[in-house]
Amino acid sequence: MKPVLVIRSLQRMQSEALTWRRQGRRVALVPTMGYLHTGHMSLCDRARRTVGPQGIVVVSLFVNPTQFGPKEDLKAYPRDFASDRAACETAGVNLLFAPTSKAVYAQKELGNYSTYVVEESLSRGMEGASRPGHFRGVATVVAKLFNLVLPEVAVFGAKDFQQAAVIRRMTTNLNFPIKIIVAPTRREKDGLAMSSRNAYLDADQRTQATCLHRAIQAARKQVVFKHPKPIPAEPLRNHLHRMIESYPAAQVDYLAFFDPKTLQAVKQVRRGTQFALAVKVGTTRLIDNALL
Ligand code: PAF
Repeated sequence: MKPVLVIRSLQRMQSEALTWRRQGRRVALVPTMGYLHTGHMSLCDRARRTVGPQGIVVVSLFVNPTQFGPKEDLKAYPRDFASDRAACETAGVNLLFAPTSKAVYAQKELGNYSTYVVEESLSRGMEGASRPGHFRGVATVVAKLFNLVLPEVAVFGAKDFQQAAVIRRMTTNLNFPIKIIVAPTRREKDGLAMSSRNAYLDADQRTQATCLHRAIQAARKQVVFKHPKPIPAEPLRNHLHRMIESYPAAQVDYLAFFDPKTLQAVKQVRRGTQFALAVKVGTTRLIDNALL
């Protein structure tokens, strides 16, 4: 196994990227906030398959402060650099880019940083409504990573459906010459979508966290059962809400039915409608989504 090269300096990262560009090497970027799990590894595999054995796979590891709200879990966000480095080595990642937040957001933390990227349409509802400023932080850091790593392709996970849509839109709107790949969500055996935040759940909450996947299955069943007739969204939402909150630790944040292209809410649910949900299990906020 080849040791993965770790770079922390922004200047060094960009100068490596410029060298690869001059050499005509293909570069894929997998942006992460670390605490890597099998889901992240599948993104790395996808990146490798895209650029080939001679290409360069870069994983960025950065817990981005600007995408966390003041009452969110920035400080508590799980971190394990040694394990992340080992996982990257196993996956054959070429470079782990792990800058400090001081370096990314200039000298005095956020003190003299004042440039942000704001997507003004797709980022409004769901996560954007529940977590004001979240997508401004995501779009800004991803744009910065694109400029530092200069990849030809970047791979994101489908669990963050709205994030992927916002990033696609930003990439097109700002003319980044980068292909965005969205790789399928990896799930535990009982259906729970893999997420670094699952580490917060105690044993009982971990069992109850299957309510998100159960809600997706229930919605799918309804759609298949009623097909080709559409189902009114409101009663279905109420039914799923009650079902989820029959788990004592679960509290629904939102249940959204929408068009997967425009992210516009729909009043009638049918095959091809996207379903996304956010649920707090204990104090841990989990999200999931599926095409019905
Ligand atoms: O999905 C994530 O882990 C983060 O939002 C991302 C894309 C790495 C930006 O910080």
